Amino acid sequence: MSEEDFSDYESLKTQIAEHDRAYYIEDNPKISDAEYDGLMRRLLEYESLHPEWVTPDSPSQRVGGEALKIFNSVRHTVPMLSLGNVFNTEELTAFYNRMVEACGTRDIEFNCEPKFDGLAITLRYEQGLLKYAATRGDGQTGEDVTAQVKTIRTVPIKLNRPNEGTLPEVIEVRGEALMFKRDFEKLVKFQKEQGVQTFANPRNAAAGSLRQLDPKVTSKRNLRFYAYGLGEFKSSNSKGIFKNQSELLDYFLSLGFNVTEHREVVYGMEGLLGFFETMKEKREALPFDIDGVVYKVNDFSLQEKIGYISKAPRFAIAHKFAAEQMQTKLLDIEVQVGRTGALTPVAKLEPVFVGGVTVQKATLHNEDEIARKNLMIGDTVIVRRAGDVIPEVMESLPELRPADARKFIMPTSCPVCGSAVEKPEGEAVARCTGGLFCAAQVTQSIIHAVSRKALNIDGLGDKHIQKLVSSGKINHLDDLYRLSVSDLNVLGRNAEESKLEVLAPTLHARIQSSKSTTLSRFLFALGIRHVGETTARDLAKHFGDLQSIMTADTSKLIEVPNVGEVMADSIHNFFKEPHNREVIENLLTLGFELKAEEENISINPAIAGHSFVVTGTLESWKRDEISQVIISAGGRISSSVSKKTDYLLIGSEPGDSKLKKAQELGTKILTESEFKALLQKK
Ligand code: IVH
Repeated sequence: MSEEDFSDYESLKTQIAEHDRAYYIEDNPKISDAEYDGLMRRLLEYESLHPEWVTPDSPSQRVGGEALKIFNSVRHTVPMLSLGNVFNTEELTAFYNRMVEACGTRDIEFNCEPKFDGLAITLRYEQGLLKYAATRGDGQTGEDVTAQVKTIRTVPIKLNRPNEGTLPEVIEVRGEALMFKRDFEKLVKFQKEQGVQTFANPRNAAAGSLRQLDPKVTSKRNLRFYAYGLGEFKSSNSKGIFKNQSELLDYFLSLGFNVTEHREVVYGMEGLLGFFETMKEKREALPFDIDGVVYKVNDFSLQEKIGYISKAPRFAIAHKFAAEQMQTKLLDIEVQVGRTGALTPVAKLEPVFVGGVTVQKATLHNEDEIARKNLMIGDTVIVRRAGDVIPEVMESLPELRPADARKFIMPTSCPVCGSAVEKPEGEAVARCTGGLFCAAQVTQSIIHAVSRKALNIDGLGDKHIQKLVSSGKINHLDDLYRLSVSDLNVLGRNAEESKLEVLAPTLHARIQSSKSTTLSRFLFALGIRHVGETTARDLAKHFGDLQSIMTADTSKLIEVPNVGEVMADSIHNFFKEPHNREVIENLLTLGFELKAEEENISINPAIAGHSFVVTGTLESWKRDEISQVIISAGGRISSSVSKKTDYLLIGSEPGDSKLKKAQELGTKILTESEFKALLQKK
């Protein structure tokens, strides 16, 4: 034995005792069930290795907490047991094998039920009348909560006479008192309005409502009761009415109890796992919380044969769901830069097993989110991962905040490239302004730059660009123009791209010839946020040369038609960033020639200056082509109908919303032939 182990064991004992107190006595748990189970398991492991350490005060020697002193105690005639837990298929297999061995057959029926996440109570009926109700307490002695339980509508005060036989002289019905999720939500809302402390979850709410001295309060809480087990049973002539768990549940139904409809008799491991999966899927939609399922050997005589281990039946087991919420430490907040320059804070967590996986990182989305969740670095936080949804940090527990907790501050320069970070007013996301320079954005920015409406380098695909960037041949857009034919040859190595090997000289020539372009295409190619094709054209037209645009302040930029403050800020910030200017200067040094006007523009007065939206499929033009036609004629294209739209050009199967909006606004609607007529009007 190591001393370290022993002190770890002792510390576990103290921790568990504290959590027991918080849970059972104060109805105010400080950790999740799964974490509690984890502590208990470590304790039990020590105890199985060192039975000599076990003393009567070990939490393993008790079933539940001490009874609350404010209620009268009730000594249970038949002890209220707990259940062993399994957390995975391996442990379940071990349970199943134990059952097979104990029964001497594989032909075993199991009754499967949900594991209700409420609190266990026992109801004692004598001559069909509710005599008392009690909580489990420590399993031997509970609290008398008769007055409170009588307010639960699903608890019969008087039993129905069952179909067969007479009422038993004594029957103790055991089951779970719980609160529906929707009732819990209502209660929390009400508690918030009243400004009083809220319950953490429906189970605490159910416990708090039942262990309430004033039954009037309990009655308002709409608790429910589901029966699942039998305590004492005395009956002169109801022998043979139920010989197994599933018939017992039917019997409860006939007496007037609520029994879950989500129960099933199954065989073999497959049957058990099938029920587990089904309930996992149903879980979200159930009106109440469950934290797993319970498998019970169905047959009562087999149950007796298999027997009990200390405080739990050996013939039954709870198969718990992986906890969906866990507590962990927020170790740090790192900032990641996305392909479009968005800066995303990411939580670095102390690894935690939640929802079936180990989670170490979780996105925090943006600064506002961090503030809303009241997160500080060093905090204890609740992490949630439900189903296949990505893990999320829900909230911090400020009461556990260490003195050295730090506030998160969004960096003012990009952690990847050092460029300035902008956060436009009213926007939640901070962004790196070094779009042309930043390594995180370079692939995306080059893909955009070479696209058809920008520098139009036909044949240079996204994959090629990714390869050129990841191989280090391109760090910034200007590097593209320094590539040799043999650099481009490399692209042809894999089968998919083999055609390219032949094309390398052609591609090289295309790259070089793309340097002769127009100012508007060049501007659009830079990938400035909010600057689309049309704005690029407006800017080019208004300023006439690149230098003037680069040096214009926001007040000058706003003078451009259709350029608002947000756009002006974005343009100004882009050109203010020295890293971007450096790339642009390099491009110009490499021989870019920027013509002021787009070629082929032949202004058509019927179209020039008018704003168009296109919807549906046109016969004569593809979507890109029609944009080109309108723009070349001096018109403007926009993607949605607004007050500023002059014409909605409709093809076949036009979009409903655009059409409706145009009708509402009285926008002129053009068919394809009407548009052609306009074009002819020159
Ligand atoms: S049977 C003989 N069935 O789980 C075993 N218990 O961990 C006694 N529970 O105190 C319980 N759903 O509060 C049984 N379908 C179910 C249950 C269930 C929830 C709770 C109950 C018990 C605890 C044991």
